Formats: sequence, C-alpha cells, structure tokens
Amino acid sequence: MARPLVEALRRRPVVRRPVWIMRQAGRYLPEYRELRARHSFQDAVATPAVAAEITLQPIRRFDMDGAVIFADIMTPLEAMGVEMTFDPGPRLRPHTLAEVAALGPLDVGRVGFIAETIRRVRSDVPDETAVIGFAGAPLTLLAYLVEGGGSKDYMRLRGELRADPAAARAALSTLAAAMNTYLAMQIDAGADVVQLFDSWAGVLDRESFRDMAMPPAARALAGLEAPRIYFAPGCGHTLDIQPAVGAEGYGVDWRLPLAEAWARLGDVAIQGNVDPAILLADPDTIRKAVVALFAGSAGRDGHIVNLGHGIDRHTPPENVATFVEAVRA
Ligand code: CP3
Repeated sequence: MARPLVEALRRRPVVRRPVWIMRQAGRYLPEYRELRARHSFQDAVATPAVAAEITLQPIRRFDMDGAVIFADIMTPLEAMGVEMTFDPGPRLRPHTLAEVAALGPLDVGRVGFIAETIRRVRSDVPDETAVIGFAGAPLTLLAYLVEGGGSKDYMRLRGELRADPAAARAALSTLAAAMNTYLAMQIDAGADVVQLFDSWAGVLDRESFRDMAMPPAARALAGLEAPRIYFAPGCGHTLDIQPAVGAEGYGVDWRLPLAEAWARLGDVAIQGNVDPAILLADPDTIRKAVVALFAGSAGRDGHIVNLGHGIDRHTPPENVATFVEAVRA
C-alpha cells in the first residue's frame, strides 16, 4: 500500500502531505518520562518491548506519518566496542583518528535488538505509517568520538581534520562502512525509509564539507533499497552541493524559507522546516506557520512536513496536536 512518506520521497502526488517530527519520541511526552523513570536511556534502547512502546507513543497521540525508531545515533558504536554513558547526551573517552579507523566492522548480531524493535513497530503501526530507521553520518559520529561528547564549536575535530586529512579519511571510511551495514540491516528488518543525521557537519566550511562530510555520507547511503533522507542542519551554505550524497530527500533547518532552500537543492524531495520554537507559541502562531510553510512548497510534489530540528523538550504536547491538525487541514 502507498505510504505518504515514501510517496513524497519518490516525488509522487500524495493523498495527504506526510508529517512527522524529529525527536518525536522523547522528553516532552509525560508517558516517555514515566517510562524513563524506570529504565535508563541505554536499557530502554536495548529492550525491544520498551523501545517499541516509546516509538509508538507519539503515533498513538498524533497519528504521525512516520514512526522513528527509538535509539540513538551512538547506539551502533556501542556495538563496535565504544563505551559510553548518556547524560543526557553521549559521554565517552576521546578517541584518536587511528583508533576510530581501527574499530571493527559492525557485527549486526550485536544490534539485533534494533532489528527486533523495527519488526515490532512495523507490525503495530497503521499500514500507511512509514517506519523510519536512521544512523549518524560518519562526520557527526567522528565529532563525538574525537571530542568525547558534544562540543560548542568542535575545535578538536576541526583541528584533527586539518592536521591529518588522510587519517581522518581512514576513520570516516570505517564509520561509513559500518553505517551502511547498519542501515541495510534496518531495511531488512522492515524500515520503509532511512535518515542519515549529519548534525555537526554545519561547523565545516563549504570545501571541508564537500571533502570530509559528503563522501562518507554517500558511502553510508550507497546501494540501500529504501528511500533515504540526508539531514545536515546549519548547512544553508552547502544545500546546492548536498544532492551529490545520493539521497532521495534532504532535511533543511528553519534558517531559510522552504522555497529558497528548495531552489538551492534542486530536483529532490525536501523535509522541514518549521522553527521548533514555533511549537512553544500559541495555536494561532502555529497555524500561521503551517500556512506559510505550505505556501513555500506551492505546486511541487515531494514535501515532507517536519521541524527544522528536533522538538524542544519544553514543548506542550497539545501544541504538537495543533501542528499536525493544521497540516492535515
Ligand atoms: O524520536 C526520535 O527522533 C528517535 C530517537 C532519537 C534520539 N536521538 C533519542 C534520544 C534520534 C533520532 C536521535 C538522534 C540523535 N542523537 C542526534 C541527531 C539529531 C540531532 O539532534 O541533530 C544526535 C546529535 C544525538 C546525540 C544525542 N543523544 C544528544 C545530543 C542527546 C541529548 C540531548 C537531547 O536532545 O536529548 C542524546 C540523548 C537522547 N537521544 C535522548 C533521546 C530521547 C534524551 C535521553 C533522555 O534523557 O531521556
């Protein structure tokens, strides 16, 4: 059966414009906080019954067109032997480029819980809902590995890329191969769509982005048998070159109007791009933002409605309901 999210990524006409929200399974939902009071983040991810339940929470409430699997971009690295904690973001020992290059290939048996969560979610969501698998893009995973966690400007990463480009390419190529295996495994298990998150690639200048972020992202996405979305926030300066990663759809943040972002990207599907801060405002402001968003996609097939980044944890759930209702109306 035709799933609107999949159809939009193929740039075919849709019966309804698909909508989902990045980080839709998470801390703004009281039922999520209730479950997290009993399970650590990592235990919740590694327990398919719990991870599937968290994935389904926003689907039950808002009937989104996509169900994004509850996990983290760092989850497959744990299966490659990288130890970490979450507080709330990932914390780990800073790794050298050589250590990253030497990480073993991903043993899919060690992420079997992700496949099981996908199977459960696929059998529980409505037929028209797309199951969304995902991975971190190599450059973004390398950022966490080198820095040992999140960082304001990723200076250590940027310094290493400048100091030893060959070692950086070797590290990125190990990560690209592992994420390609990981995404293929998710599609085999029933993911209808996959998204590659390149959350920190926007700290790079245009030439470094072309040189260091795009080739490993293209390798991570190569040959997959499901429509692919590449999302690099803070990357207005690279939208025109991004389609060389070979995805069907591109996520864009809120910094540019949708029409302008689409003009830069060219003939591809687009996902976005409401400012997450809009969902902190009143119902009228939310409805007006949706009207403006639709105006920016006038007449073109291939738009997936989403925010320009993950939902803020202080968002009232009723504002999400208002947003989805406005999209459907
Ligand atoms: O609902 C969904 O989108 C699915 C689940 C999901 C999580 N993380 C759950 C999570 C997804 C797709 C991610 C991706 C992810 N993780 C990204 C890419 C998206 C982006 O924001 O750019 C990044 C950079 C990470 C790394 C990460 N993990 C951070 C920075 C944090 C802490 C800050 C935050 O936004 O919560 C995490 C922890 C994390 N991952 C939580 C959740 C629900 C919070 C855990 C908790 O305390 O309950």
